[in-house]
Amino acid sequence: MSSAPTAVIVLAAGQGTRMKSSKPKVLHAIGGRSLLGHVLAAAAPLKAQQTVVVVGAGRELVRSHLEEIQPAAQACVQEEQLGSGHATRIGLEALTDVRGTVLVLNGDAPLLTADTLDAFAAHHATAGNAMTILSARVPEPRGLGRILRSGAAVTAIVEEKDADEQQRQITEVNAGVYAFDAAQLSAVISRLSRDNAQGEEYLTEAVSLLRADGAQVGAYVTESYEETLGCNDRIELAARGRQLNDRICAHWMREGVTIVDPQSTWIDADVELEQDVTILPGTHLVGATKIQQGATVGPDTTLKDCEIGPDATVVRTHGELAVIGANANVGPFAYLRPNTTLGERGKIGTFVETKNAQIGSESKVPHLTYVGDAVIGVDTNIGASSVFVNYDGVAKSQTTIGDHCRLGSDNMYVAPVSVGDGAYSGAGTVIRKAVPPGALAVSGGPQRNLLGWVVNNRAGTAAAEAAIAAGAPDTDAQQKDS
Ligand code: UD1
Ligand code: CA
Repeated sequence: MSSAPTAVIVLAAGQGTRMKSSKPKVLHAIGGRSLLGHVLAAAAPLKAQQTVVVVGAGRELVRSHLEEIQPAAQACVQEEQLGSGHATRIGLEALTDVRGTVLVLNGDAPLLTADTLDAFAAHHATAGNAMTILSARVPEPRGLGRILRSGAAVTAIVEEKDADEQQRQITEVNAGVYAFDAAQLSAVISRLSRDNAQGEEYLTEAVSLLRADGAQVGAYVTESYEETLGCNDRIELAARGRQLNDRICAHWMREGVTIVDPQSTWIDADVELEQDVTILPGTHLVGATKIQQGATVGPDTTLKDCEIGPDATVVRTHGELAVIGANANVGPFAYLRPNTTLGERGKIGTFVETKNAQIGSESKVPHLTYVGDAVIGVDTNIGASSVFVNYDGVAKSQTTIGDHCRLGSDNMYVAPVSVGDGAYSGAGTVIRKAVPPGALAVSGGPQRNLLGWVVNNRAGTAAAEAAIAAGAPDTDAQQKDS
């Protein structure tokens, strides 16, 4: 691409005082990505040769986050936060090649899109400007730098705090996104003053300095002004989060996903959905969750880093790192913990918790059960109210269950233990040793009824009276077994 910038400098050294947080502002997240992550993602398709992130406040946190999300980007430190111009100077010093176009981006504008940035860079490439500013007309310009113009040319940017009453009426604002001719930026960057309300080196002063040098400065006005909005406090964080979510929901609806209530549906930026997926209200799709064609998720479901197969149904479920097969059913009220897999047409039902559990296709765990550290074969049924007893107080152990088993209700699988193919078990069985294929496992002795026990030992209670009314032996009767 001819408009490709040589370098991108992201300004991310500010503490973000108004966030009132121990965490630096650019690490606050919306849509499952940090503010910095959104800015870097918007810039990535431009394929600049070098990306420099200026860090300062919370630098170790920002640096290690950067390592995680974009190791190719380079962090450089602004020791003291002396303003956006000063930060840009630090960034410039880290560039290996000061030629061509340098893009400078505020680190706190998470709604900026790659398309807008691309159009902006393309405009700069042909406009012949020493500096091009991304601007927008916004309904509420308060707090933002205003664009002063003389015809098409930009003559200055004045910050709210330095603006007079008349300048404050201007609604065209600086988005904090700039394209520079690298050589001309280098020439003015050391000449910024601190002669302003905040006593900082404003990058925006470059406008008047370049013009005084006879260079041309322009602004590219974007129609989608929402993209230019920054994020300075928690109220703006929530507002940007809502705007991003609206955009993500609209994107997936255009791709053929039914979202019954976009207002109560939250979808992270990295989620992937296929056609004819249906998302019911109150659903949060988090992280790298993928949902395949025809699946229905929700209502009231949170899935983090999960994969849901075609035509599966997941109702009122909380899941993390689970893989659900085609046509399988989950919930209502299931808790899928990491490393759960469920095969095709399988079922994880109501009040069931699973962890590190591989449940084969057509197998069912329908009710009130904990499955931890287990492998279950195909077409096996686990009876209601069973527990995979995986923890002896010291170590976790594994249970292995074969194919086509029919296992009773209220079974305890005391791991490590295994159940062979085609085995059955009775209700209330405590399985402590291997069940061979095809065996019926039972445990516990025959049932004993101590006749008259309640009448003799709980005299005067409602239970005793009900028993007497039903013909139970009275208190004088001999207590005996039957
Ligand atoms: C800035 C612009 C303003 C514009 C607005 C858009 C200046 C002087 N003003 O104002 O014209 O309308 O963004 O949102 O630039 N930073 C550093 N080091 C510093 C100071 C800031 O790295 O010493 C970084 C911050 O982390 C932030 C960016 O620069 O990502 C902008 O700083 P911020 O303080 O948020 O500037 P605004 O007052 O919002
Ligand atoms: Ca800002």
